Amino acid sequence: MSDEHFGQNPVLLLGQTLSFTANPFDVPFDDAVQYESAGAVLIRGGQIAAVGQAETLRALHPMARIVDYGKGLIMAGFVDAHVHYPQTAIIASWGKRLIDWLNSYTFPEEIRFSSKTYAADIAGRYLDLTKAHGTTTVASYGTIHPVSVDAFFEEAQKRNQRVVAGKTCMDRNAPEALMDTAQTAYDQSKQLLTTWHNVDRLSYAITPRFSPTSTPEQLEAMGALWAEHPDCLMQTHLSEQTDEIDWVMGMFSDARDYLDTYEAFGLLGERGLYGHAIHLTDREKARLKEVGAGLVHCPTSNTFIGSGLFDMAGLMAAGHNVGLATDTGGGSSFSMLRTMAAAYEVGQLRHTPLHASQLLWLATQGSARALHLDDRIGNLAAGMEADLVVLDLASTDAIAQRTSHAEDLWESLFPTIMMGDDRAIRAVWINGKAA
Ligand code: GUN
Ligand code: ZN
Repeated sequence: MSDEHFGQNPVLLLGQTLSFTANPFDVPFDDAVQYESAGAVLIRGGQIAAVGQAETLRALHPMARIVDYGKGLIMAGFVDAHVHYPQTAIIASWGKRLIDWLNSYTFPEEIRFSSKTYAADIAGRYLDLTKAHGTTTVASYGTIHPVSVDAFFEEAQKRNQRVVAGKTCMDRNAPEALMDTAQTAYDQSKQLLTTWHNVDRLSYAITPRFSPTSTPEQLEAMGALWAEHPDCLMQTHLSEQTDEIDWVMGMFSDARDYLDTYEAFGLLGERGLYGHAIHLTDREKARLKEVGAGLVHCPTSNTFIGSGLFDMAGLMAAGHNVGLATDTGGGSSFSMLRTMAAAYEVGQLRHTPLHASQLLWLATQGSARALHLDDRIGNLAAGMEADLVVLDLASTDAIAQRTSHAEDLWESLFPTIMMGDDRAIRAVWINGKAA
């Protein structure tokens, strides 16, 4: 059908293009991608209508408005599968381990989100910062306050962004001002879910923070809510630090392990997202694999808070469903490029370095798959929503001098993964529009 029939002229982006055709953890790296050095992406409405060679698509679509990015690399926008937008203003707070870090920095800041004005200010700031870093979708925790979730969804809605978020539920081991109850956590989460889930590009995740801050009654209420709304995601934290695990096991005397504190209350499932998942027992790994749950690797956070080294190679080889995330503000960066670099370094410390193709896959397809959104986002392919990033692969003198003699695609990409930041983000497209 000719373009005129669609009532709006399509846009044709020109540049290098990179799409995934397979999982680079399963097939040789070069077999996992489709790459065009003179490529094009046709965007019509909010969707990718075609990806191919520039010459071909230009001939087929002479009416299209051309946006030429030269040697810029066009690929799917980054998907950050675990963030706390309310921690934006306390990112890079010095020198604590998890529980002290929560009590010293995080909880005092989260108390401020009882104000919707403050929440909207930080939500807007967060979405602008992450967009500047090439991230087009995030899955975020709110705070205990329903207005923190309203504010985040409203800001995302203004930007036509696909995001996942939920009210963080806690009814123990937190400041009085940050606690709800089993009943209010259930009622408020249900109300938010009814208001926001599947509205525009927004979806709701049921969000018990982690076992130490929820009573068994609250975990049970969250499990009941999830059973009533099984199409929602459920996000929480799992086995981030060894002292945290000891604390959990002291609190739940009947539990076989940390995962069991969720499993026992109906909080283990395919649409469950388990942040960190570093110190897993064999039983936990087997159960997570069996149900196809999403594990989310947060490497800058894991080194910043001193949590440990996620076993990416082992978990991928065993067939786990793994995404990648910044974990802002336990993570030390808003950038998925910095996060990929950290994942590479964590892999090196485990003697299992990740390849550039695997890092880029994790930051797009891997995270989208963990969020069960891989049919819509996370790849440059016809039929997907048009959320894109255009990377400048020579964004600084240091990177440019390295890539100037690159001999293949991966050698030209890897310096930007390791050394790049927001200066490498030449453009971002959200829902088919330059953002
Ligand atoms: N575990 C429970 N809450 C948090 C949080 O806000 N950040 C991190 N990194 N771990 C957590
Ligand atoms: Zn987290």
